Amino acid sequence: MKKIFQFLLVIGLSLMTFSCYYDELADQATLPLPQNISFQDQVQPIFNQNCVNCHNGNQNPDLRSGNSFTALLGGGFVIPSESENSILYKSLIGQGAPLMPPSGGISQTKINVVKQWIDEGALNN
Ligand code: HEC
Repeated sequence: MKKIFQFLLVIGLSLMTFSCYYDELADQATLPLPQNISFQDQVQPIFNQNCVNCHNGNQNPDLRSGNSFTALLGGGFVIPSESENSILYKSLIGQGAPLMPPSGGISQTKINVVKQWIDEGALNN
C-alpha cells in the first residue's frame, strides 16, 4: 500500500513540474515578435485617416500611400530604430515638433504603432 502512495506522489509531482514548464512556454509565445508591425497594413492607414487631408503633396512630408515611405525616410523625418529622435514621432506626441494633427493628437494606441514601426527599423514592409 505504501508503494502505491509513493508512486502516486511521484506521478503528481512530475505532472506539476511539467505543467509549469508548459505555462512558461505559453508566456513566451505571447511576447511580441520582432518586426511585426507592417508599414502598409498598420502605419499607412493611420496616415490615410488622420494626415493626408493636409499632407497630400503640398505639405511636407507627403504622407499619401506610395509616397510616404520615401518622404519620411528620405526627408529625415524618420531615423530607423530611433523613435525618440524621429520628427515623425515627436510630432505625434507634440514634443520637439509641432503637434500633429494640429487640431489634437491621435490615440495612444496609434502613436504606439508608429513608434514600434520606427523602433523595429522603419521597414518598407
Ligand atoms: C490640418 C492639417 C494637418 C494635418 C491633419 C496634419 N498635419 Fe502635419 N503639418 C501640417 C502643417 C501646416 C505643418 C507645418 C509645420 C507647422 O505646423 O509649422 C505640418 C508639419 C508636419 C511635420 C513636420 C514637422 C517638422 O518639424 O518639420 C510632420 C512630421 C507632420 N506634419 C506629420 C503629420 C502626421 C503624421 C499627421 C497625421 C497624424 C499630420 N501631420 C496631420 C498640417 C497638418
